[in-house]
Amino acid sequence: MSILTLKDVFFSYGKTPAIQNLSLAVEAGEWVTIVGPNGSGKSTLTKLIIGLLAAKSGEIRVNDLTLSESTVQKIREKIGIIFQNPDNQFVGVTVKDDIAFGLENLSVPYPEMIERIDTYAKAVGMDEYLEKEPSQLSGGQKQRVAIAGTLAMHPDIIIFDEATSMLDPEGRHAMMAIMEDLKRQGKTILSITHDLREALRCDRVVVMHEGTILKSGEPSVILRDEALLKQARLTLLEPFKYMNELSSQKRLTDQWEAILWESALTL
Ligand SMILES: Nc1ncnc2c1ncn2[C@@H]1O[C@H](COP(=O)(O)OP(=O)(O)OP(=O)(O)O)[C@@H](O)[C@H]1O
Ligand SMILES: [Mg+2]
Repeated sequence: MSILTLKDVFFSYGKTPAIQNLSLAVEAGEWVTIVGPNGSGKSTLTKLIIGLLAAKSGEIRVNDLTLSESTVQKIREKIGIIFQNPDNQFVGVTVKDDIAFGLENLSVPYPEMIERIDTYAKAVGMDEYLEKEPSQLSGGQKQRVAIAGTLAMHPDIIIFDEATSMLDPEGRHAMMAIMEDLKRQGKTILSITHDLREALRCDRVVVMHEGTILKSGEPSVILRDEALLKQARLTLLEPFKYMNELSSQKRLTDQWEAILWESALTL
């Protein structure tokens, strides 16, 4: 069953449409990666899903709830979002308060709150910063705290809007491991990225262009489609370049394909 459904969604900030004719159904437990050039509407799409912006036409559904003024609060409880820019996401005086804030709103009992803060601060490697002020953290550290705060609320759907763009390689790997773990737990994930390495392990890649979906499909298909990626201003990962080259020379064996896929996963 679809946990998230968008039907013919249209939105514009001014005259030019930012989202047009967009339809998408995401299954419960599915991990969808959204890619697309700057300005193609990815962040706008996420804001529409959580009701920060209201679609001019079309319909957005989460489970059996249609997004509207009366359902937006309920829908937001099911969705966690980590925004592109971590600066505007803090409400607490300390890192700990900040993570606690969302949990207080959900009326999580105190002992469980402490446990969740501890678990998720550790998961993102920020457990030693719990007493610090968020303003004293680096961009990547802020992003980690924002991630911990969102995960601690145990949402069914988690949206990562370029959440790894500020992370160092180690942080990025840790983040990918967290996403894989969330997938195993049955969470639904929407991750937005310009880094195709982050799309290798998902279930489906959606390519956006000029406010709509250009194409969507399995990573093994989309990540090899050079012309399509070019349109989304993305470059083919090296192993797929070799794969396509071997394929055009009719030398691509199953074994080569497996080796090159493996090597992409280590990037
Ligand atoms: N607050 C705003 N006011 C007016 N126009 C906006 C606003 N936010 C975004 N836009 C416009 O809407 C379009 C889609 O922007 P959006 O931020 O959704 O793109 P994006 O795909 O997330 O890009 P990026 O990869 O740079 O994050 C762009 O043309 C952008 O200029
Ligand atoms: Mg964006």
